[in-house]
Amino acid sequence: MERIVSLPIGQWNESCSPHRQQQALESLENARVLFLPQLDFVFSQTEQKFLTPAWSNGTRKNISYNAATGKILGVRGDPESRRALAALLRRYADCTQMLMHNLLGQYRSALLRARTSYRPMQIKGRASSATRDDTRLHPDAFPSRPTGGKRIIRVFCNVNPHGAGRDWRIGEAFEPFAGRFMPRIKPPLPGSRELLYLLRVTRTPRTLYDHYMLALHNTGKMDESYQKTSIQDSVSFPARSVWICFTDEVLHAVDAGQYLLEQTYLLPVAEMQSPEKSPLRVLERITKRKLT
Ligand code: SIN
Ligand code: FE
Repeated sequence: MERIVSLPIGQWNESCSPHRQQQALESLENARVLFLPQLDFVFSQTEQKFLTPAWSNGTRKNISYNAATGKILGVRGDPESRRALAALLRRYADCTQMLMHNLLGQYRSALLRARTSYRPMQIKGRASSATRDDTRLHPDAFPSRPTGGKRIIRVFCNVNPHGAGRDWRIGEAFEPFAGRFMPRIKPPLPGSRELLYLLRVTRTPRTLYDHYMLALHNTGKMDESYQKTSIQDSVSFPARSVWICFTDEVLHAVDAGQYLLEQTYLLPVAEMQSPEKSPLRVLERITKRKLT
């Protein structure tokens, strides 16, 4: 079945017909990737200077912005440039919010805006430990920011100024992936999630769901044979295009690309049209217990 669903949306504030909205919602909830080849995010003349990896201070994978506080992390440079980059990320956050509200009206009142990121580093050849290595197929799960069962939706925009695509692979469906790895995963040790919270490894205590999702993320990435032999399709998202998916469900890996904007949203499972399709419900069916 085709994993990529192309939509002819050309403006961040474009209003979408009820039919288009229903199509988008169903596609997302069926683990498709919405691809918006006509949508672009333009850097102004003065913002062009941010198109170099030199703005990253090397302390984290990506430059990260919190639209709620205005704080930007992982960036170097003079205060004025940092403010200008924060303003660019703020504009991206606002553009994606308009798009999400217009395209996914049914989620509108429930969507929670999380971090915005800017990824100016070349992916290919970048060194990293296995569990942090996004060139390995994985569903997203955050080590320090448990979602407590909420869905993760991400809006990506390839802003590469040289026309380079962002090369992804998309793996098998979540249910067979989870069915394959869950038997190898142990429940958390008693008290361990509380301890991680007390030690400030996590912002909030992990639920059982967060424990299993992170373990699936790590176990899947560390399985070399799975990485090599599992079903996967290559897709290159062209420069100046946008794509959206539930990254907690769609197994993905990135092989190459440079200069990406990304906005994360969280969605409570109860707000889905078909909550039974969520990773939370899939894992609850497998473990036969409530996980949040
Ligand atoms: C990821 O979310 O695993 C990486 C996606 C990307 O940077 O293209
Ligand atoms: Fe990821």
